[in-house]
Amino acid sequence: MLPFIKKRTKIYEGKAKVLYESGQPGLIIQHFKDDATAFNRKKHAIIEGKGVLNNFISELIMDKLSGIGVPTHFVRRLNMREQLIRRTEIIPLEVVVRNIAAGSLCSRLGLEEGLVLSRPIVEFYYKNDELGDPLVTDEHILALDWAAPHEMNSIVNNALRINDFLTGLFSGIQLILVDFKLEFGRVEDEYGETQVILADEISPDSMRLRDSRSGEILDKDRFRKDMGGVKEAYQEVARRLGVLPKDILNGIIPPDGETEN
Ligand code: TMP
Repeated sequence: MLPFIKKRTKIYEGKAKVLYESGQPGLIIQHFKDDATAFNRKKHAIIEGKGVLNNFISELIMDKLSGIGVPTHFVRRLNMREQLIRRTEIIPLEVVVRNIAAGSLCSRLGLEEGLVLSRPIVEFYYKNDELGDPLVTDEHILALDWAAPHEMNSIVNNALRINDFLTGLFSGIQLILVDFKLEFGRVEDEYGETQVILADEISPDSMRLRDSRSGEILDKDRFRKDMGGVKEAYQEVARRLGVLPKDILNGIIPPDGETEN
């Protein structure tokens, strides 16, 4: 007999995730795929098990951030690849926080990778694949009404708090947080007031992490730079965070479906 597969309405399919209706008001399902893309989809591969690892890593980080008072969309993990999240109206920005020069900061300004910045930089990119996510300033964001001034304050304050917290969390497991990307969305409370909360995911797909002793790259840069060992790097991050799913430990990669755990 074929396994029972629930029919669900797809809301949106992105490069690494799919969003589905949950049937519960204000809540949707975020499904993590194994697809990896880089350079605006020019490069694509399937990294077996990546979706499961990112689901667990993002759950842990979002939980810890809620614990320090950062509002997030995360509600609970449903299974190996899916989590229940609050439905938000996504603000069309990629908010990047950098501690050490890498990636596009180096290519844009001719800096050497590894330069330690004297203070963190918060950058904004307009989320638009067709335009290749161009860098914008808060002047563009405010003039184009992508976010209000008080929303920008909340985004920058939370981005810097998240940076402080994650830098400490990772340094405790011998990882250096070079940079990372956040997305935020709006939700409405029962009084009709909007609030900006952390959305999307936080995982080695959206961060640069280096081993603090060897300098080894333990994030998606392994894929961007064709270094191999992508899955092993994500597994190592999950192992150090203490969230390596037992199926993966036993060498079983759950299928791209709803495996209850
Ligand atoms: P960048 O150096 O390529 O601008 O990347 C900065 C950080 O943002 C890095 O940790 C990777 C992350 N990032 C994403 O999560 N999604 C993206 O589309 C890009 C370009 C970067």
